[in-house]
Amino acid sequence: MLEPNYLTESEFHDSSSLSNEIEEGLLADSASISPKFLYDILGSHLFTAITLLPEYYPTKTEKDILNTYQSQIADSLGLGKGLIDLGAGNCQKAESLFKSLDISSYIAIDFSIDYLKEILPQLQNKYPKIRMYGIGMDFSHQFQLPSSISTLDTNFFYPGSSIGNFTPIEAQHFLKQVKLQTHNAGLLIGVDLMKDDTVLMDAYDDPLKLTAAFNLNILRSINAQIGANFDVTHFKHTIKINHKLQRVELYLEALQNTTVNWSTGERSFRKGELIHTENSHKYSMQSIKELLSACGFNSFETWTDSKNYFALIYAI
Ligand code: AVI
Repeated sequence: MLEPNYLTESEFHDSSSLSNEIEEGLLADSASISPKFLYDILGSHLFTAITLLPEYYPTKTEKDILNTYQSQIADSLGLGKGLIDLGAGNCQKAESLFKSLDISSYIAIDFSIDYLKEILPQLQNKYPKIRMYGIGMDFSHQFQLPSSISTLDTNFFYPGSSIGNFTPIEAQHFLKQVKLQTHNAGLLIGVDLMKDDTVLMDAYDDPLKLTAAFNLNILRSINAQIGANFDVTHFKHTIKINHKLQRVELYLEALQNTTVNWSTGERSFRKGELIHTENSHKYSMQSIKELLSACGFNSFETWTDSKNYFALIYAI
């Protein structure tokens, strides 16, 4: 049984700074929780379930683009290189590239090292010739790979439009750091494009209520992280489409007056008060290219689907 190498969470997660970040968000006038806390082990599984929903178009559209343009994508990225997967989750999208790109090494990075430890061993056994590494890392503020990881001849892969979960300014900060670490290769990035409200409403407030469970689970994740006593039954999932900022916003709305305590603080929520948990920014082809250009990328190859719902871009 081949084992991937892991770089453990404690090397990259400073739990006291995570707790401070949570407390700061909860105590702000307009309360917020960073979306990275959606991805504890249950949240990661719930997100995988969301990607199977017929209403959640990004995953299947991106998968179709990856399949349709497999050989063009391979020509652009080159064969026999390494692949660094940013926010790997269940690693399925990266796996779809292993054969066509003849990957030599695979480095999966995710906020949840526990989820990677569930997924990676099976993948390593399926592909024994590919050297695999799992890194549990919070790159929401700073992205610096450990010096033991070589990025020479290695492409970065940032699928799923996770870039949309950063504000454009945060995205710029992150992508500049990625660019500094790409040497003789580039970044293959998936980006969700702006579309009709009805499509977005169904995708982010699905009839099976999986997205509601995913969003509410952030409260359990926070309870575990800071020892708080959020009661998920006191909140409901709600979304807004913000046309001005070109994004879907996720919130948890208090269903009654409720007070939450943790060892160093407390916060009361009035009925109807919102906790902002996620932004999902949508781009146009032009605005994403402008963003990538501002980060030092200057050559682009793009692939999209027939409805123009989603774009894959290889930027160097
Ligand atoms: C991971 N990320 C790109 C997803 C999105 O669409 O913004 C997270 C998500 N939130 C609700 N559904 C899916």
